[in-house]
Amino acid sequence: MTQYKVPVLPGDGIGPEIIAEGRKVIDAAGERFGFDVEWIEYPQGADHYLKTGELISEASLKELSAYPALYLGSVGDPRVAPGILEKGILLTARFYFDQYVNLRPVKLLEGVWTPLKAKTSKDIDFIVVRENTEDFYIGIGGRVKSGSNKALLELKRTLYSAKFGLDIETDSEEIAYQIGLISKEGTKRVMEYAFDLAEKRKKHVSSVDKANVLSDIYGFWREEFKAVSEKHPDVKTDFNFVDAITMWFVKNPEWFDVVVSPNMFGDIITDLGAMLQGGLGLSPGGNINPQGTSMFEPIHGSAPKYKGLNKVNPIATIWAGAMLLEHLGEKEAAENIVASIQQNILEARVRTYDMGGSSGTSEVGDDIARIVLEG
Ligand code: IPM
Ligand code: MN
Repeated sequence: MTQYKVPVLPGDGIGPEIIAEGRKVIDAAGERFGFDVEWIEYPQGADHYLKTGELISEASLKELSAYPALYLGSVGDPRVAPGILEKGILLTARFYFDQYVNLRPVKLLEGVWTPLKAKTSKDIDFIVVRENTEDFYIGIGGRVKSGSNKALLELKRTLYSAKFGLDIETDSEEIAYQIGLISKEGTKRVMEYAFDLAEKRKKHVSSVDKANVLSDIYGFWREEFKAVSEKHPDVKTDFNFVDAITMWFVKNPEWFDVVVSPNMFGDIITDLGAMLQGGLGLSPGGNINPQGTSMFEPIHGSAPKYKGLNKVNPIATIWAGAMLLEHLGEKEAAENIVASIQQNILEARVRTYDMGGSSGTSEVGDDIARIVLEG
């Protein structure tokens, strides 16, 4: 029997509850498809931080880098200032493991309510490849009060490093700035991933940018997109400004197959994508480094107000678990989990409040695990 070791970071808020259901379903798939997962628990999150002052240590990151796939619940807690846990754990892990693809399927399952009443599961089935390490997410910026200021801003990445020596002079009372950066290597690799993915799907890649205004950074993005697309003459392409694509997602979702986006716009449009497919409770994601350690998580956050209530929908996390299994090479088990989610929805007996039901988180996990086992 194939044995996998998978580190699991349940995190904060509803994280532990949804991860428990994801594990349950993966374990059921293991029983049915002949593999075994040993879960290695990591405590990182708000409680751990408040107790020890540690977010995620270099030693833990190093240890985790020995594994191909990690399973993450969600981070964020009202006892900790916004951004501390998100940046200190989630973004730190994405950058440390150089998970340069954030893969977010937008797929409406049959029987799920969508705000786009006239559309069906055939119309809403695309996938967003969000660049996951650069753009306005590099965390480089600052604030200065009036007068002269010097700042040395440094960015270190696996692929390259960059230093900005800034000489700032202003008579404004105070200014704040944030630097967005994309690199040739970082842009090229995510686009290649998107085109390779499109080759296995409907052979269509849509690029997202705002090259009409932020022309340095996204003009560069466009150039790289053109260069990579030339190596894939069989793949249809188009450019979309980010504001316009939000409109097209709603009006004509059936146009899209693979959508490749810079980090920040990718963050924004995938919440919209999540709504098209029935809400955040149904939307999984994967942070992928094809050669290294990847990390699978729901797109949603830690929903602190629902913590411990056995109320929220575990489907996003269970689906992220299917993506994790696919990444490990268990394609049949992964497809079976998604089909089992689909069956649970069509049976419409066991569902959480967001889907109009009254079942709890664990009942939904039990039901999907049952379908996986029964086949
Ligand atoms: C997401 C989240 C994160 C992001 C936050 C929590 C840092 O919104 O995964 O989409 O902005 O990437
Ligand atoms: Mn987001």
